[in-house]
Amino acid sequence: MNRLGYGAMRLTGSAAFSLGQPSDRQRSIQALRTAVNLGVNHIDTASFYFSSLRSANELINRALAPYPPDLLLATKVGPARDSAGQWLPPAAPAQLRGQVEENLRQLGLDHLDLVYLRVQSRDPVIEHVQALNELSQAGLIRHVGLSGVTVEQVEQALEITPIVSVQNRFGLGSEAAKDRTVMDFCGAHGIAFVPFFAIAGKGADRGARPEEAEHVHEVAQRHDASPAQVRLAWTLHQGQHVLAIPGSGNPEHVRANAAAAALRLTEQDLKTLNNVNVA
Ligand SMILES: NC(=O)c1ccc[n+]([C@@H]2O[C@H](COP(=O)([O-])OP(=O)(O)OC[C@H]3O[C@@H](n4cnc5c(N)ncnc54)[C@H](OP(=O)(O)O)[C@@H]3O)[C@@H](O)[C@H]2O)c1
Repeated sequence: MNRLGYGAMRLTGSAAFSLGQPSDRQRSIQALRTAVNLGVNHIDTASFYFSSLRSANELINRALAPYPPDLLLATKVGPARDSAGQWLPPAAPAQLRGQVEENLRQLGLDHLDLVYLRVQSRDPVIEHVQALNELSQAGLIRHVGLSGVTVEQVEQALEITPIVSVQNRFGLGSEAAKDRTVMDFCGAHGIAFVPFFAIAGKGADRGARPEEAEHVHEVAQRHDASPAQVRLAWTLHQGQHVLAIPGSGNPEHVRANAAAAALRLTEQDLKTLNNVNVA
């Protein structure tokens, strides 16, 4: 699949995690269709991406079904919210089937291409991965991934089932990007590494910040690109196994992000970007 994908978390409204203002349905649908028309064939989603009136999975279904045959829809299980949007304790292994089925219903599918176990602690992942492996054997899941994990947790999972992808936080100038061990482990083991907050960086859930590091601006000017495009290009330069899933509900941003896949950073650019302060 194309290394430049799309993250659906921003589709549902400006404050997707706090039931803030819901997004404009048509604009969100346009953002999704724009992405796919520009060659995106990897969309990251979750049933817990919803605001009061919008669900990312429902928007994907509405915008894209019947799905193009090469489109990979990746979803996540583990975290859960009640119908009012409040976070619940993470799912126990026996609850994962219900979460997988919820994604199937919302996306209008009979099986999911890729399901990440989103881990929220350093506890062993063995029982949860065993539960996903059973769902895989039952034909509900094609591939298993992990999110928010350490190398030790990936190793535990690999004892049970192949892991095709790891989705961890990793963005230029973020504290998370100081530690490359999981990304490098994935590269060495043929596992895709899918960073989140590649554009938002330190902004995290709050999204892209209006102020931007001077070094990012410097490289952007050299290429007549935007800071967000430089951040995406930097992400894709971390390794051939590294994918990008920029999140945007703005069709113009989706276009700009797709174009960032063609941005080739020079050694000088990468040296400049290494000077972006980590905080
Ligand atoms: N596994 C996990 O725990 C986890 C956690 C968080 C996210 N994710 C996944 O990772 C994806 C990416 O994370 P994210 O969406 O939070 O962060 P992101 O892609 O790093 O950044 C999104 C932010 O950047 C803005 N943006 C996007 N393209 C832009 C552009 N070309 N120019 C200027 N601003 C731009 C967006 O606003 P606009 O909407 O206005 O464009 C939004 O504020 C999510 O969509 C989700 O699928 C996974």
